[in-house]
Amino acid sequence: MASGFLEGKVVAITGAGGGIGRACALACAAEGAKVVVADIGVSLAGEDPKSEVADAVVAEIAAAGGEARSAADDVSTMAGGAHIVQTALDAWGRIDGVVAVAGILRERMLFNMSEDEWDAVVATHLKGHFTVFRHAAAVMRKQESGSLVGFTSGAFAGSVAQANYSAAKGGIVSLVRSAAAGLYRYGVRANAVAPIARTRMSANVPMELAEMGEPEDVAPFVVYLLSDAAKDVTGQVYTVVGGRIAVWNQPAEVREIRKEGRWTPEEIAGRFDEVGVERMTLIDRLEEYRKAAATGEKPNN
Ligand SMILES: NC(=O)c1ccc[n+]([C@@H]2O[C@H](COP(=O)([O-])OP(=O)(O)OC[C@H]3O[C@@H](n4cnc5c(N)ncnc54)[C@H](O)[C@@H]3O)[C@@H](O)[C@H]2O)c1
Repeated sequence: MASGFLEGKVVAITGAGGGIGRACALACAAEGAKVVVADIGVSLAGEDPKSEVADAVVAEIAAAGGEARSAADDVSTMAGGAHIVQTALDAWGRIDGVVAVAGILRERMLFNMSEDEWDAVVATHLKGHFTVFRHAAAVMRKQESGSLVGFTSGAFAGSVAQANYSAAKGGIVSLVRSAAAGLYRYGVRANAVAPIARTRMSANVPMELAEMGEPEDVAPFVVYLLSDAAKDVTGQVYTVVGGRIAVWNQPAEVREIRKEGRWTPEEIAGRFDEVGVERMTLIDRLEEYRKAAATGEKPNN
């Protein structure tokens, strides 16, 4: 039950017309936030925009007694990001949170991927975070408060047939860490969520995932990150699926070899085992995933 966790806060959520974004918008409004529902209403591949998608969620929020405005903007444009933030400022004079959920999928093996497939996915996810974060951060810096929430994916650690998506999601993690570091002194926080939830996007994955949850399972964690209860949480990445919440480690070097001066290739070959490799579990498990995709069965987690 809603407890007014976000009372008095103004939050803009991209991709809020469907899937996880919609669940976050409804949860934020139920917790007392005023919400900008930003969604251009496109297909999974990012085509055929419809403004009714955002309007429908605004109507749902209003019907439940909440306050919301729609912004049918394309997050991959600077004008779109600016307009989403301006919609919050025009309606309520401030912006306390941005949740960047908008995303599309164009899966293809790297050797077959077109420039359009690369550009559209990177523009929607990675630039789509930059456009809203950039404009909101300028306001939040002056307010000396704010919470930015990005949406990454476990696929940021590598993906077989989604090099575009994986690269964009890795970029989002780096953008969030950079925002956390750059805005720390202004009291503005930035974190990322890697969700797994039943939506049209996850339905597109060619095998049943080992873990699955609902968009409504992800929303309470987003509400938490936006709230003052999370005032000391920044620069983090969290997996959220069903009833499981997990924090990712911070990237760090784990081993080294050194010599005075420059190595020769022969010397490196002679001592390489001392620095060695870190296991890439995705590669270790490719055969298992291939079988799961072929049979439609779940891989072991
Ligand atoms: N569903 C999962 O299991 C899962 C797993 C990992 C990551 N994610 C990430 O979570 C986020 C939400 O995914 P979802 O499953 O709810 O997807 P979804 O397809 O249900 O919703 C995405 C929404 O984004 C909107 N959108 C797309 N391009 C846009 C643009 N240029 N401007 C404005 N809006 C745009 C769409 O209209 C749609 O309403 C995405 O970033 C996705 O990559 C989802």
